[in-house]
Amino acid sequence: MAKLWGGRFSKATDTMVDDFNSSIRFDKRMYAQDINGSMAHAEMLGRQGIIPKEDAELIVKTLGEIKEDIEAGKVEFQIDAEDIHMNIETILISRIGDVGKRLHTGRSRNDQVALDLRMYLRDEADELLDMTKNLIKALLKLAEDNTETIMPGYTHLQKAQPITLAHHLMAYCEMLRRDCGRLADCRSRLNVMPLGSGALAGTTYPLDRDFVAEKLGFDAVTLNSLDGVSDRDFVCELAFDLSLIMTHLSRLSEEIILWSSNEFGFIELDDAYSTGSSIMPQKKNPDVAELVRGKSGRVFGSLMGLLTMMKGLPLAYNKDMQEDKEQIFDAVDTVKMCLPVFANMLSTMRVKKEAMLRGAKGGFTNATDAADYLVKKGLPFRDAHAVVGHMVAYCIENNKAIDELTEDELKKFSDLISEDFYEAVSLDTCVNQRKLTGGPAYDTVKALIEKYKTEFLG
Ligand code: ARG
Repeated sequence: MAKLWGGRFSKATDTMVDDFNSSIRFDKRMYAQDINGSMAHAEMLGRQGIIPKEDAELIVKTLGEIKEDIEAGKVEFQIDAEDIHMNIETILISRIGDVGKRLHTGRSRNDQVALDLRMYLRDEADELLDMTKNLIKALLKLAEDNTETIMPGYTHLQKAQPITLAHHLMAYCEMLRRDCGRLADCRSRLNVMPLGSGALAGTTYPLDRDFVAEKLGFDAVTLNSLDGVSDRDFVCELAFDLSLIMTHLSRLSEEIILWSSNEFGFIELDDAYSTGSSIMPQKKNPDVAELVRGKSGRVFGSLMGLLTMMKGLPLAYNKDMQEDKEQIFDAVDTVKMCLPVFANMLSTMRVKKEAMLRGAKGGFTNATDAADYLVKKGLPFRDAHAVVGHMVAYCIENNKAIDELTEDELKKFSDLISEDFYEAVSLDTCVNQRKLTGGPAYDTVKALIEKYKTEFLG
């Protein structure tokens, strides 16, 4: 097939180069954005009198038909037409001849691809935002059912202080809420219209950039033509936002994996969200959580790939930038696969409240509160810390919990201790006395959940 840019060439492109150069395999997914962008461009060219109005109308009409044909599976894209932009233009010209040849007036593939990618990722960012919100909703539901489910909180994966499952889950809601903010922020920065940047230096035609921007739902137009064609910050930014979402999912995955182990036994995943072993009949594996954890690697890889691809590029467009698409598409696809399955895995899992409570009772998670008890009786904190340290050592030796010591045993460590000690170190007190903003007390977390429900459930 003759190339749209073939004029100055005396030889056909080597088929190996066609294969190597071509991006149609992966950029065909932007066909709708490419067509919508071309329709707006053509309409504007007609309105501005840059091409005849009837030509603009025929172009718009034919592009609409091409879109329908693509959607009906009637169009076969050509590798040697290189990318989605030239494939569609080639089809247009094959259908309406010379009129179709007017479409590319005042435009370059460089600003065209920037436009298409912005529109494509804008839609994806919206979908990702919805999916992230849905995950928050699933977490809220689970948190609501577990505001009084006491479990051990950990540092260094060693039992530390008692918290509730709701409190633990709300930590993830905070992370995901920030992720939502980042996606919205990224969307606002990517929603700027680059057409009119031309190849790199704008164009001499009197384009109406604002008309095109408005027509295509953009908030503004780009203000420097070099930047307009060479900026991929929005791609990197989205890849970072997605990487951070995956970091968050991966951390919770790790916890789900631990919690569903026999050693923890805090939760049981639903049969529909676990898998078996081909050899060990007893196995029930948390594959979904593991895969989410594993897939974080490829999303981080995309971010690294994008940053590395961009870092040495002179202005303006370079072909290297064609490599942006597979990276960001894969990152988007991966996160879009992970979010809903992860939300369902959480919604269907069974929480073993008894096991969590048992876990919180072991490991001296009330030791800080025992020290705080002594502080309230007048002992300086460092001394109280040492007293309880000795108490814990004694408990380990005698295989007892702090609140299983008799009053006589307790008094050996400090004569400040009396019978109100037991109430002060009960897990219930430990949790509920931590009622300051951000703390795990039942009512504090319930209030936070309500706040989230207003924001996310409307
Ligand atoms: N397929 C190219 C890309 O994805 C489109 C822009 C090509 N421009 C050019 N002058 N070769 O980046």
